[in-house]
Amino acid sequence: MAFTRVAKTSDIIEGHGKCVDVGGKKIALFNDGGTFYAIDDTCPHKGGPLSEGQLNGNNVTCPWHAAVFDVTTGAHLSGPGASNVNKYAVQVVGDDVEVDA
Ligand code: FES
Repeated sequence: MAFTRVAKTSDIIEGHGKCVDVGGKKIALFNDGGTFYAIDDTCPHKGGPLSEGQLNGNNVTCPWHAAVFDVTTGAHLSGPGASNVNKYAVQVVGDDVEVDA
């Protein structure tokens, strides 16, 4: 386990996501009601940026063709493509958000 500091808690508005870089890997970090979740940013369908998708509860909708993923597990729930995305552990230390990716 190697957590990397990627953002301040205040950098990500509740109900939104942000793309962060962890060792060259693009990770989508979400703030769901003050709890943070991290999954791959790149949609496995055609590469859409999941961090720019609409967050509804635990589900994010890809902005390109509307595939839906559970941000807590990375599971593909509906829409085009059939692959899950990776999910990463997140911890908050003080006001820093850290991801293990
Ligand atoms: S690129 Fe995400 S649904 Fe097509």
